[in-house]
Amino acid sequence: MIKKIAVLTTGGDAPGMNPAIRSVVRYGISQKLEVMGVFRGWWGLINEELKPLSHRSVSGIIGQGGTILKTGRCAEFKTEEGQKRAYETIKKNNIDGLVVIGGNGSFAAAHEFYKKFNVPCVGVAASIDNDVNGIDYTIGTDTAVNTALDAIDKIRDTATSMERIFVVEVMGRDSGFIALTVALAGGCEDVIIPERDLDLNAVCHDIVHGNLVGKMSWIIVVAEGAGKAEDIARQITDMTSLETRTVVLGHVQRGGRPTAVSRDIALNVGKAAVDCLIAGKTDIALGLAAGKIVEVDFETAIKKKELKIDNFYKLIKTLT
Ligand code: F6P
Repeated sequence: MIKKIAVLTTGGDAPGMNPAIRSVVRYGISQKLEVMGVFRGWWGLINEELKPLSHRSVSGIIGQGGTILKTGRCAEFKTEEGQKRAYETIKKNNIDGLVVIGGNGSFAAAHEFYKKFNVPCVGVAASIDNDVNGIDYTIGTDTAVNTALDAIDKIRDTATSMERIFVVEVMGRDSGFIALTVALAGGCEDVIIPERDLDLNAVCHDIVHGNLVGKMSWIIVVAEGAGKAEDIARQITDMTSLETRTVVLGHVQRGGRPTAVSRDIALNVGKAAVDCLIAGKTDIALGLAAGKIVEVDFETAIKKKELKIDNFYKLIKTLT
């Protein structure tokens, strides 16, 4: 029977990590578990930066973006020495299981750690990129999409008024999910994503033909993993002789109050992660798929997630 668990957030922060921490702590305590909070992700395990969390330690965080536990990317945890020190912290503090709140990089690390040291690890899928395989919607994605969409709606006002072409860069290192979703919801004219070969001739052809029939303003969304807004805008200007403007939304998409969707997922999945540890489950990531909480083994969760782009893309172009 487990008595003490620890929770940590690792990788890029995502809005909704705080409600997930709140859920793990309060639900864990309700199940008579002691819950420790590890600070700064894997770094905190390596350097024994952890402390007990009480019901009150997580008061008032449900609506806050970021993570009260801090987070980061930790190269040291990829080393034998770093992993050994993390394991020593776990033994010394009598921790029976870990809740790892993060994305696929965090789960790859947790999987390695579990294989080597047999420490029960359950993942809570949180990443704005929505790139955890087997999970439809990660914590933070809905908030990031809405933040980007709000910006795009504002850009639309000036683009229409001044009849301009905008190239808007959104986050997504390896995934075009945010880009595709906001392009459709924002009525954007085109979208450039890492999962699809870029055909700038086709983009420019559409712009020029649009202009001939009086369509003078364009918003082209580009996922950061598919290219830089500046470069794409320059090439469009070179090919069409039309003026362009660029906006890079960047880290603004990682912050802000989590939406109701991000919070609901976080609160439900946080609780489920504690239940899994109590039930003796390990080496799995939890998240939402087809409206239900699913358990995906880490090995599957860290595989490249297929983004179903064709229908999405067709609809974006049909509705332009
Ligand atoms: O968390 C995912 C993500 O936001 C990616 O979309 C982006 O490429 C990356 O993190 C940025 O990481 P950092 O904050 O370390 O620059």
